[in-house]
Amino acid sequence: MTQDELKRMVGQAAADYVNAHAPEGAVIGVGTGSTANCFIEALAPHRARYRGAVSSSVATTARLEQHGIPVFDLNEIESLPVYVDGADEIDASGAMIKGGGGALTREKIVASVSEVFVCIADASKRVDVLGSFPLPIEVVPMARTAIGRRVMALGGVPVLRVRQDGAPYITDNGNEILDVKGLQIAAPRELEATINAWPGVVTVGLFAARGADLCLLGSGTGVESILYGAPR
Ligand code: 5RP
Repeated sequence: MTQDELKRMVGQAAADYVNAHAPEGAVIGVGTGSTANCFIEALAPHRARYRGAVSSSVATTARLEQHGIPVFDLNEIESLPVYVDGADEIDASGAMIKGGGGALTREKIVASVSEVFVCIADASKRVDVLGSFPLPIEVVPMARTAIGRRVMALGGVPVLRVRQDGAPYITDNGNEILDVKGLQIAAPRELEATINAWPGVVTVGLFAARGADLCLLGSGTGVESILYGAPR
């Protein structure tokens, strides 16, 4: 199977999971990226079952609206039974690197208020140790160089994310992203806490303190459901 077919398969599996577990009339948290897009497509035929969604990015909002799914501001919503999103890497504890699509801050916010985080991924995203995928850090632009120095002191190589035209990539929140290469992240919770404490860091793309509760992992043999302990 191609990677796109695997993404469609886990997107469908996530829609089946949500239809079976989320109450009618619920608002669903929706992530960002090509795998999350497959989830939106699979959920769309069931949209009448839900009040709508909270979105993790401008791009996801547009896609949800294209599919006729109402989008709510998180401030209007008290609880989200489930959040569905992709990942760039996921380890055996359910800790993830996210932010390849630049939406890490809103993703982390929406995930933080969701009861269950369902990660959907193809098998290439499963790793023993996080860090082969460059770790994104969303930074306030004036702090970019100071944060880069701290990253280098940890042994990482910070690279400013740029658009195709060479200009800095700007997030939905008006900030920049440093992609950090060369880290072997053996203690993701500790590194997440360390980097988040640096002045000027908006969000680090380590999702360990609030990792996935369930991963629906697609491979040539089907969708494997991996549970990481009691949902929070
Ligand atoms: C966006 C993300 C995505 O979930 C992550 O990059 C995976 O994307 P894709 O499903 O396209 O492989 O964190 O910020």
